[in-house]
Amino acid sequence: MEKYVIRGGNKLEGTVRIGGSKNSILPILAAVLLNKSSDEIILTNVPRIRDVVKMVDILRSLGARITWSGKDMAIQTDNLTGYAVDEKLMREMRSTVFLMGALLGRFGQVCISHPGGCAIGQRPIELHLKGLMALGAQLKEQHGYIYASCSRLTGADIHLDYPSVGATENIIMASVYARGTTTINNAAKEPEIVDLQNILNKMGAKIRGAGTDQIRIKGVTQLHGAEFGVIPDRIVAGTMMMAAAATGGDIVLENVIPGHLEAVTSKLREASVQIREENDRLRIHAPPRLKAVEFVRTLPYPGFPTDLQAPMTAALSRAKGTSMIVENVFDSRFKHVGELTRMGAQIVVTTDNRTAIVHGVEKLTGAVIKAPDLRAGAALVIAGLAAEGETIVEGLQHIDRGYENLEGDLARLGADIRRVKV
Ligand code: UD1
Repeated sequence: MEKYVIRGGNKLEGTVRIGGSKNSILPILAAVLLNKSSDEIILTNVPRIRDVVKMVDILRSLGARITWSGKDMAIQTDNLTGYAVDEKLMREMRSTVFLMGALLGRFGQVCISHPGGCAIGQRPIELHLKGLMALGAQLKEQHGYIYASCSRLTGADIHLDYPSVGATENIIMASVYARGTTTINNAAKEPEIVDLQNILNKMGAKIRGAGTDQIRIKGVTQLHGAEFGVIPDRIVAGTMMMAAAATGGDIVLENVIPGHLEAVTSKLREASVQIREENDRLRIHAPPRLKAVEFVRTLPYPGFPTDLQAPMTAALSRAKGTSMIVENVFDSRFKHVGELTRMGAQIVVTTDNRTAIVHGVEKLTGAVIKAPDLRAGAALVIAGLAAEGETIVEGLQHIDRGYENLEGDLARLGADIRRVKV
């Protein structure tokens, strides 16, 4: 077990480089399973985070051959041995649900354990399942497992009731080898969907429209090798922006796509942070205390990302005035609030768990707190950086799922943060 020991109060200053996107690489690692040829898929800008390590374990358990050195990964999937995902591996990582579309497309059958609930809410998967059934998959849910099978999937017109990121990705992957054309209406528009389209097209798929709400996939019969660089992680970039904002910092982020962060940039500007965009760099210059913002509403892309709601709440907890934060995407995503309150924050969550009213306080004070999930964990680190005195953040296994070396990046920017063994 490890924990962070943070001595708060230092302004962040300097430059930090952002790595590859977690939410992009995970579906990409599922998509490569569609490659039946002996060609290699070469991925660059791969982040070394726990979720990727686990996904690599799962791919290897299915027979994929993978070499991973530094940020580069080479994957061969011609001799896969199975389509059933080991339950223990699956339980360790929820996002394995989009392996369904890829394995169904590749083998015509798949068996995975039902992902169930998780720390940030129920996370049902009926949209995934309805999409796969529309393509002709037969599904059976039994003893906590989902079995899907098909002879060959057939293209269909699918309307998603909600633009779910995972369901959109799952349907795209399942349709790559389907007979005819599949259209997904009300598709999710996240940049990670565009990245998935781009790699699959490089492998020989015929997909158009990712980034809009209508995606068309024309079925093909084979794919081939490709080399592909993963986009920078907009959520990690946003986390560093919030850390700078919370500490009155002045930092430069390198290797970002500023267009992916528009909603975040505009909210931080409202909070009186100065932000300058230059090609693949962002300069963030924050005042000693932020100005409260009237509303932050999380929404599907291009709205404000739910994954940055907790970090934003932490940053606003020391703002001048009162901010309202409305969580529209997940139903239980204010677990950080209790911990922030222990540090002196004044935040009230409404009984429906949808809105947090943040009365900015002049100072936070160090405390022993525990990360309840990945992004809430990042929020607590941000609060620790902005607080007076020493903060201990436990539960680093959550943070390590999605940040390569958070303490290293922050320390390079002048933060006093150490990882210590408990
Ligand atoms: C992805 C991201 C996650 C991010 C989320 C929203 C990955 C690996 N994870 O998660 O970091 O927070 O997008 O931007 O990319 N829903 C249903 N039924 C379904 C599917 C989803 O009701 O069949 C609901 C979910 O419970 C949730 C909302 O839709 O309330 C959004 O979920 P979705 O867009 O599917 O998120 P994920 O793909 O799970």
